[in-house]
Amino acid sequence: MYPAPARIDGRGRRTRRCLPEGANRGGPIVTEGLLEIRDLSKTYTVSQSLITRRKQVLRAVDGVSFSLKRGETLALVGESGCGKSTTARLAMRLIEPSAGTVRFDGSDIGALRGSPLRRFRRHMQIIFQDPFASLNPGMTVWQTLEEPLIVNDLGNQATRRARIHEVMQQVGLAPEYAGRYPHEFSGGQRQRIGIARALIVRPQLVVCDEPVSALDVSIQAQVINLLGDLQAQLGLSYLFISHDLAVVKHIADRVAVMYLGKIIETAPKRDFFASPRHPYSRALLSAIPQPNPRERLNRMALSGEIPNPINLPQGCRFHPRCPFAVDRCRKEEPTLTDVGADKAVACHRVDDLPDWEGSPDPLDILSPAGRRRVAAYAARTRPQLPTTNSSQDVSEV
Ligand SMILES: Nc1ncnc2c1ncn2[C@@H]1O[C@H](COP(=O)(O)OP(=O)(O)OP(=O)(O)O)[C@@H](O)[C@H]1O
Ligand code: SF4
Ligand SMILES: [Mg+2]
Repeated sequence: MYPAPARIDGRGRRTRRCLPEGANRGGPIVTEGLLEIRDLSKTYTVSQSLITRRKQVLRAVDGVSFSLKRGETLALVGESGCGKSTTARLAMRLIEPSAGTVRFDGSDIGALRGSPLRRFRRHMQIIFQDPFASLNPGMTVWQTLEEPLIVNDLGNQATRRARIHEVMQQVGLAPEYAGRYPHEFSGGQRQRIGIARALIVRPQLVVCDEPVSALDVSIQAQVINLLGDLQAQLGLSYLFISHDLAVVKHIADRVAVMYLGKIIETAPKRDFFASPRHPYSRALLSAIPQPNPRERLNRMALSGEIPNPINLPQGCRFHPRCPFAVDRCRKEEPTLTDVGADKAVACHRVDDLPDWEGSPDPLDILSPAGRRRVAAYAARTRPQLPTTNSSQDVSEV
């Protein structure tokens, strides 16, 4: 069984506790979010015109709240520019928030400074969209993987070597490739190096920012399967950013939809795909190609451009594009409201909307034979992960 999750103390150091905070031995199991985000905002001051240089405020993230449980995958979805990456960067404290709090494993990470902050960063790592751009072309795989261990002062030369070999095997890379440079690998292999670099310091939470969208479709399945296997094996939590709902349907436990800096719907994956409540979520699901074009579902096409985050519409931000908008929507901003069963929606008309007649399963666009081929292909290409022998000295790293 995976050992009790490691935690960080108020000074950013990793500690190990048998039970989560507040839990009683023999009492009811108390679960707590690993990542708790409350009212997080990030504004940028930008000058829109080169001539007037008038300063304006861009609300990249505007009052976002969510929590992510241990071992869970929360998918953050939405159109380009809605604030997904900014939310992730705020959660990792790579950038400072304009307002709001981020608690990781019970600690307010906004209060960490200096070396406690550096120690915290080890517990939350990121996998980027473009592995080529995120890897240093002048560093071998070995150097790329050893660097975070040295920076975090983990292990000695022997334990670092053992750890690098272990992680390379976990991500499906032969350790004898450790002396090669990024350009000597394929796109999928480069992303495996990116995953290895994130995992080398044994994080608890990994932010995956569009981790497969730069890869060929045939490679995407392998990388997604690998992420799923690593999660099961290592007890990882994922904040998974993607615009590809087929990928989200495969990997997520819960979905949070963002629109212009705000979360407008959260729901368990199954509920989200079976009956999305917010009109924007319905529009996103409607964009999935339909297997039978003659079949008429209550699909929703999105009209109009995504509004400028500098001049946000009054009231509901989605109202200029929403076919259900009424007067109230133009005046009053809806808040994200609990609608039961672990779901929350920000829409004034959530109870008046017509029933959702179902969106196609992303795999339904294939014929039954096509679905069988995809399943067989996924099984064949699933990386064979070697069983790892975590020796005493390796676990020190
Ligand atoms: N450093 C910055 N300065 C000014 N504006 C920024 C900055 N970083 C992000 N933005 C703006 O904040 C908004 C959200 O950007 P963000 O990168 O978070 O979007 P995203 O949802 O990740 O988009 P994509 O799917 O294209 O990656 C965008 O309008 C973007 O232009
Ligand atoms: S609040 Fe009004 S405009 Fe906004 S999504 Fe709901 S119905 Fe549409
Ligand atoms: Mg992004």
